[in-house]
Amino acid sequence: MSFPATSFSIGSIAVNPPLVMAPLHEITDQPFRRMIREVGGVGLTVSEMISSEALVRHARKAERMMASEGERPYAMQLAGSDPEHLAQCAVLCEEAGADLVDLNMGCPASNVTKGGAGSALLRDLRLAERCVGAMVKAVKVPVTVKMRAGWDASQKEKAEYLDFLKMFADVGVQGLAIHPRTRTQQYEGHADWSLIARAVEASLPYPIIGNGDVVNAEDAHRMVRETGCHGVMIGRGALYNPFLFRQVLDPEFSVTPAMRIDVTLRFFRLLMELLDEREALHKIKKIGSWFTKGIPGGGKFRQRLNDCHDAQALIQELEALK
Ligand SMILES: Cc1cc2nc3c(=O)[nH]c(=O)nc-3n(C[C@H](O)[C@H](O)[C@H](O)COP(=O)(O)O)c2cc1C
Repeated sequence: MSFPATSFSIGSIAVNPPLVMAPLHEITDQPFRRMIREVGGVGLTVSEMISSEALVRHARKAERMMASEGERPYAMQLAGSDPEHLAQCAVLCEEAGADLVDLNMGCPASNVTKGGAGSALLRDLRLAERCVGAMVKAVKVPVTVKMRAGWDASQKEKAEYLDFLKMFADVGVQGLAIHPRTRTQQYEGHADWSLIARAVEASLPYPIIGNGDVVNAEDAHRMVRETGCHGVMIGRGALYNPFLFRQVLDPEFSVTPAMRIDVTLRFFRLLMELLDEREALHKIKKIGSWFTKGIPGGGKFRQRLNDCHDAQALIQELEALK
């Protein structure tokens, strides 16, 4: 069955296919996004969240997170709670080539929320309005938001997120991704897709991208059927299966162990090409173990990964699995 959603637009930016690789902190860096793009099926990629407080100080790590090449459309995501700093950073993102600038209103991590950023913005409609409004005024590219269902169950029950959705329309936000878990839930329980459906029913002037718990092609189809969302954003599912976007578009698309090995090899090479060796090794250890799940001989490979000091040797070992 063909995917029930067609392409959609965020302002003048077409998202085609209507599938988005979710931002994942310390994972969706440039090598990861390039790999996902090469595999195909993705209509939009997003940077990891970039702290606006770090970026206004021109911290090197934050500036490097903006890097991209040949990746269109590409959104840069900011996390912060100071309207002026967010506006300045939105301009920096635009100048660095972002097609879209996104504000993180979902991160549940306490080191982010204690400064009032991420999902903490869901507790303060007026501050959120000033933040997102300042960004919209500062740049020509469309501004989007990625949010959770609320801070806690009581906020969710009162459907306060709908007030945020109306406010976004008023200040000129042009796209919204919603991960319908509360901050209190962290990653527990399940994403309540009925909130995505209510957001769609609210007939807002911008597209709604559904997110949460899509781990296979059928989930993505079901999310569109059940909620009417304009696009689907996938995070963790794509870590275990980078071919997931392709499978959503073509459920007949089958993935062989050789394809999994090849994509892992390609990813390792991209890490080595785009990062320094220390960082590349760190990422290989972290992400390589997900990619090799299900590959015959993958278990042994993952054991070696733990005490690896030489990425080139690991690449040879992976090649030998073919
Ligand atoms: C390791 C990890 C890092 C994440 N980093 C970000 C981030 O930087 N920005 C953001 O908006 N969401 C972040 N998220 C949330 C995801 O984008 C997504 O909303 C969530 O994982 C639910 O989607 P999924 O079920 O498809 O994974 C992160 C999630 C995980 C598991």
